[in-house]
Order: sequence, then C-alpha cells, then structure tokens
Amino acid sequence: MAALKVGVLLSGRGSNLQALLDAAAAARYPAKIVVAISNRADAPGLDRARRALVPAETLPHRAFHDREAFDRALDAALAKHGVEFVCLAGFMRLLTPWFVDRWRDRLINIHPSLLPAFKGLEPQAQALAAGVRVSGCTVHFVRNDVDSGPIILQAAVPVIDGDNRDTLAARILEAEHRAYPLALRLIAEGRVRIEGERVAVAGIGASGILMSPGGR
Ligand code: GAR
Repeated sequence: MAALKVGVLLSGRGSNLQALLDAAAAARYPAKIVVAISNRADAPGLDRARRALVPAETLPHRAFHDREAFDRALDAALAKHGVEFVCLAGFMRLLTPWFVDRWRDRLINIHPSLLPAFKGLEPQAQALAAGVRVSGCTVHFVRNDVDSGPIILQAAVPVIDGDNRDTLAARILEAEHRAYPLALRLIAEGRVRIEGERVAVAGIGASGILMSPGGR
C-alpha cells in the first residue's frame, strides 16, 4: 500500500515533527511526511524538515487579513504537496471551522495532558497546580472546540514530588515522541475507526493507554 502523504503544521521547536520524521525514515513506516508548514519563519522545526529533505514552508499569519484567509492559503499549500492527512505538532494557531470541517477525520493533534483534563495553554502547569499524580499526552482528531475530538491514544506519565513545569513537560514530551508516531502508524495502517465521537483501534486493545516510562 502506498504511504499516506502527511503534512505537519508547527509553530516552534518541532520535536514532535522530528519524532514523525524519524519514524517515517524507516522503510516499513506506512506514512511519509511530504511537507512541514509553519506560521513562523523562525520556527526551528523548519530546519528539522530541511535536514530530512522534506519541503519546509512558511505562511506568516500576519500576512492575511483574517483567520479564514490564512486557513485557505494553508489548505492550498497542503494541496500543492498532495497532502492526504494533517498532523498538528505544536501549531499554536486556532484553526477556523472552515479548515477543521474540510479536513474532518484527516486532521490530528497532540496535546500535553490527558484530555479532557487541562485544555488550552500551559497544560503542564495546570496539572501541577491541580496536584494530579499522573499526567501525559493525548493524540486526538481535531474538532471545532479547542483540544477536543475523538481520542486515538494517550500516554500516561507520573507526576513526581518536586516536579516543576519544565521537568514535567520534559517527561511528557518523551511520551509524546512515542505516542505521535504510533498514532499516525495506526491510522495509516487503516486500524483506526471513528464510531460516534469515540475511536476504536483494531488490534491494540487495552494498550491504547501507554505507560511511560515503560513499554509501548
Ligand atoms: C508539545 O508539547 C505539544 O504537545 C504542544 O506543544 C509542544 C510542541 O513541542 N502542543 C500544544 O500544547 C497544543 N495545544 P514541539 O514543537 O517540540 O513538538
């Protein structure tokens, strides 16, 4: 089966893009990253794409008079590269309903909390403030409400006494780097079905919850 053509949208560091690029470099990985697009020209993630010989594009949001104009340009850029599926990887722009509906069920995001807990900004700090003992990350299909949509998989990590925002974020990030490539693999293999607003993953069973550190 031909590899699923994936576009990655990002705004910054791009470590999740890197995890996807690394996974996709393996011969048997069922998806290929065909373009990385940032709304910020200085996003370090763009260099990660270039180093992997993946086209990297900038679409400065300030150049557009409104959100939908930006999203239409984004859609055109994705189409130009033959993108079939979109991964948000630290893309810090709200997408319009026009874009979200156009890419419905072909658009996923990773968020550094166990959704539906701690939506929005600084979820790691929110987790610390709430005093939870377990946090993690969530890979989910994107819907119009922020940080909501059918959950594909989650990875849990412990919150350790003495953690600060950075130590917890680093632990969650490690889990993200395993979870995102796995979620994309499951989708590209055709094992992910959306039923109502819940996801069924063929052949993964209870390991839809990953523990980290630990196995996959
Ligand atoms: C990641 O932790 C990702 O989960 C988060 O931004 C970071 C991007 O890091 N995304 C969100 O908070 C989206 N709501 P990266 O640029 O190194 O992949």
